[in-house]
Amino acid sequence: MRKIYLVGFMGCGKSAIGRRLSYFLKMPYYDMDHEIVRQQGMTIPEIFEKYGEAYFRNLETEFLRNFRDEACIIATGGGVAMKEENRRLMRRSGLVFFLDATFEDIYVRIKNDKNRPIVQRSTKTELEQLYYSRRKFYREAGHIRVLTGGRTLRQIVEYIGFQVRRLKGE
Ligand code: S3P
Repeated sequence: MRKIYLVGFMGCGKSAIGRRLSYFLKMPYYDMDHEIVRQQGMTIPEIFEKYGEAYFRNLETEFLRNFRDEACIIATGGGVAMKEENRRLMRRSGLVFFLDATFEDIYVRIKNDKNRPIVQRSTKTELEQLYYSRRKFYREAGHIRVLTGGRTLRQIVEYIGFQVRRLKGE
């Protein structure tokens, strides 16, 4: 087990938790969206606009296939766990945590975000439907589900850190 992947819906806290977990476990941290943006020299909305969503989805799979062979923490994009190949790539190369937040918590965090094309093009009801339709895939992707509601970032990070150490046999 080399990598730690954080999966879950937009706004579930993958990046915030990933950054803190990186300090806690003293492991490097990468945000998949940022890496893709850097490689492409375009923002996520620009990639969606210029090449379409399917193209972006292929970039995500390419990232999982080719990213450096290093023990690190990776915050994935909210759509990554939808593809069977992506789930397999993550589960084979590391430990996957599903960060499970309620739709109410998530919606407050994402509703005004201009950098998320899916939020921009969807109504609240559509986002809620997407949230429920994706849960099954996050569950399938994750080795461990982490309920985030009512917990501080610190508690969540300590819980994940504890699980990582336990599974590494430390
Ligand atoms: C997406 C989530 C985003 C980003 C893109 C598509 C999705 O990542 O990859 O806008 O399909 O849920 P975050 O989960 O970090 O917002």
